[in-house]
Parts: sequence; C-alpha cells; structure tokens
Amino acid sequence: MSSASRPPLHGPSQIEGMDEAAWVDVIGKMEEVYSQLVRDEIALEEKNTQLEQSQQFIFSLLTAMSDVLVACDENGRIEETNAALRELAGRSEEALRGRPLAELLAGDGDRERLRVALDNAPRRGSTIELELLDAQRQPVPVDFNITPRFSIAGQLVGHVFVGRPLGELKRAYHQLREAHEALKRTQQQLLHSEKMASLGRLVAGVAHELNNPISFVLGNVHALQRYTERLREYLGAIHEQAGADEQARLRAKLRIDYLLADLPSLMEGTLEGAQRTADIVQGLKRFSAMDRGERSEVDLNGVIERAIHWVRKGTAPAFEVHWSAGEPCTIHGNAGQLLQVLMNLVQNAYDAAALPRHSGDNPAPALWVALQCDGDTARISFRDNGPGIASEHLSRIFDPFFTTKPVGKGTGLGLSISYGIVEQHGGRLAARNHPGGGAEFLLELPVADPHSG
Ligand SMILES: Nc1ncnc2c1ncn2[C@@H]1O[C@H](COP(=O)(O)OP(=O)(O)OP(=O)(O)O)[C@@H](O)[C@H]1O
Ligand SMILES: [Mg+2]
Repeated sequence: MSSASRPPLHGPSQIEGMDEAAWVDVIGKMEEVYSQLVRDEIALEEKNTQLEQSQQFIFSLLTAMSDVLVACDENGRIEETNAALRELAGRSEEALRGRPLAELLAGDGDRERLRVALDNAPRRGSTIELELLDAQRQPVPVDFNITPRFSIAGQLVGHVFVGRPLGELKRAYHQLREAHEALKRTQQQLLHSEKMASLGRLVAGVAHELNNPISFVLGNVHALQRYTERLREYLGAIHEQAGADEQARLRAKLRIDYLLADLPSLMEGTLEGAQRTADIVQGLKRFSAMDRGERSEVDLNGVIERAIHWVRKGTAPAFEVHWSAGEPCTIHGNAGQLLQVLMNLVQNAYDAAALPRHSGDNPAPALWVALQCDGDTARISFRDNGPGIASEHLSRIFDPFFTTKPVGKGTGLGLSISYGIVEQHGGRLAARNHPGGGAEFLLELPVADPHSG
C-alpha cells in the first residue's frame, strides 16, 4: 500500500469570506485526519502481514496433512484442496477449483450416498466412506469426516471433507493379520513339538517300565515251551505203556518232578508280568486325555507320583526323590497337561542336580517334593540339590527358548509352556533359589470346589 502524500499547510489562494482563524481550524482538522490515515495504514499493513502469515501457516498445515482435504461451497463445488488430495486425484489446484466434488467420486452409488449424507446432516457433520478416483482412475476407498462451514452471520456456506485413504490402512491390516496367522501357526507347531518332547520322555519311561515285566514274561514262556516238550515226551511214553523202568528213567532224565514243582511259580511270574503290563497300559490310558484338553477331578498325589515315576524310569534311575503321598488333594484340571508340567519340573531338577560341580564333589542328585493342601490352594514345592539358578537367569527361565542345556538336550520351552498351562488352570508357577542351596519351584493350583459339579 502506498503512503498518502502530505497536503500543503497553506493553500495558494485564500477562499473569500474565511478568516485566518477558520483556516487554522480547518488545517488542524486536516492534520488530524492525515495522521489518523497514517496510523490506519500502518495498522492495516500489520494486519495484512498477520493475514499472510496465517495463510502461509494454514497452507503449510494443509500441505503437511497426509489425510485428504476438500472444502466445497453449498452446491458441492470445490473451493479448496490440499496437496494430499491433489496427489491422490492426480489433478492440479486450478483443474479442481470450481468443479463439483461428485466428479471425483468413483460411482453413482458414491454420489448418491454423498447426497443423502449432505441432505440428512448438513448442519451437524457426519462420517461416510466414499470411493475416490485416483490418478489412474482406480477407485480408492476413503473414510470421510464431513463438517459444515458457516459464514459469520451463521449461514451454511459449504462443507469440509477430511478423509483417510483406506487402501494403505487395509493393506497394513491385511499384512498384520497374515503375520498374526503365521505367528499362531508357529506357536501351534512349537506347542506340538514340546508336547512331542514331553511325550518322548513319557515313552522313554514307559519303555523302561515295560521292559522288565515283558522280559520275564518272555523268559517264563520260553521255559514253559521247553517244559511242554519234556512233558509231551514223558506223557508219550506213558501213553505207549512203557515199562516202569523206562518211565522212571525218563522221569529222572526229563527232570519231571523239578518241572512240576517249578510250574506254579512260572505261571505266577508270567501272570504277574502280564498284570504289570496291563497296569502300565491302564495308567497310560488315564493320561491319554492329554491331547483332548479334557478336564476332570484330579488327585494331585497321583499325578506327582506318576511324574516322579516316569522321569526316574526314563532317564534318571539314580535320582533320589523324597516324596510321600498325603491326604487326597483334588483339583479340577487336565491330568495329562499337569503331568507334563510336573515331569518337566522333575526332569529339570534332575538335569541340574546331575551337573558335575566345579568343586569336584558331586552329591547324589536329589529332589524334595512336598504337597500342601490347605483351604482353597494346593501348593507343591520342588527343591533340588543342584547348583541353583544363576541370578541373571532368574528372570528369563520362563521365556520361550531360554535354555542353558546343550543343543539337542533342551528346547527351552518346558517352563514357558508349563507357565501357560498353570495359568490356564488358574494357578501360579514361580522359581527361586533356596537359602539352603539348590533351586526351588513353587506350583500353586486352586483346589476343586467340592460343591461345584
Ligand atoms: N531346577 C533347576 N535348577 C537350575 N536351573 C534350572 C532348573 N530348572 C530350570 N532351570 C533353568 O531354566 C532353563 C529353562 O528350563 P525349561 O524347562 O524351560 O527348558 P529346558 O529344560 O532347558 O528344555 P526343555 O524343557 O524344553 O527340554 C533351563 O535350561 C535351566 O537353565
Ligand atoms: Mg525342561
């Protein structure tokens, strides 16, 4: 804006009939008006600068926005857009200004929905998903927020549309879901492989357990087979009416008297072996619910007993386990899963206690197991005479894959899976180093409510 030029203080001619005083008065007023004019001009320039600054500010905001923005007049014609929208639509500012917004929409359906949204909530604003055509004329779904614009007089002058293209979001969501699915599959595989490992331990125990009765059943049956041959030969002679001498010779040669005396114990031993085999199979059947996740009333004494039994049979025959079953302590849970948890604790204790010590003196590996069933909580503690858990490992032993065992010996999943199983049973599993030496694991489980189904 240019400055007004200062008028001369005294005119070249004096108007007839005006005296000096009047002139001074007029000139004074003119001075006043003039300086007011200068002040106004300065104020106006300041305002102008401010306006330019705020315009620049708004422009930079609009440019920085990753959401698309369109301002329309009350007839839906575009007045203003931001860079994100222009980039999406592949059109310049000039090409867009004054065009109907409907022109940017992908289909008639979108145009109709826009019309309905504007008709229904023109003064309150609303949200709507519309498909815009991008630069390649491909539809891009955009989630729009529509806000009405008002004049100073409170009159509706148009709407502002701010929206986020959903394509990116949908793609990201899709990728996230795929990653999640893959993670779930891996987790399933891990659970499966840990289950197989724990099943392997069980099978090792069962194999040892079955080996003994089966081998003596087998030995007895072989003996019975030999006895049968001898009896057949002896009875054959009798049936052919051999003479008394011949009978006596055969009876001595075939050791018939010894054979007859041995038969009952052979039969008894075979029966006992078969019975033990049947018992083992029976015991295993009880835990075959493992995979089905079935829950029932389980007496913890029995599960502890079995866990110790199978680990010792499998890998740790020399493991000294101090445990005696007490009062029945019933919880509601899955016997197979609990066996898996307990077997891992017993196996871990053995693995730690059997480690060769730096000091050179290696005490016999031992474990003390105690079950306390008071009120509504069952507490089982496992304390071993191993070296304990290094303090820097204490916070990590429940992490999946954390193991200090050599490759091929431990997967490091035992405790992390046990932790999950115990949590599913509404219990707690914790570890500490016992002040008297060795590691101590404490397992707490809620006792079954005798009044509930
Ligand atoms: N009684 C214990 N004494 C000392 N350290 C232990 C004891 N129990 C567990 N740990 C430590 O915790 C680690 C993790 O145990 P976890 O049962 O999760 O896995 P793992 O026994 O190594 O392998 P997996 O159980 O899969 O065969 C062990 O490698 C060991 O370092
Ligand atoms: Mg383990």
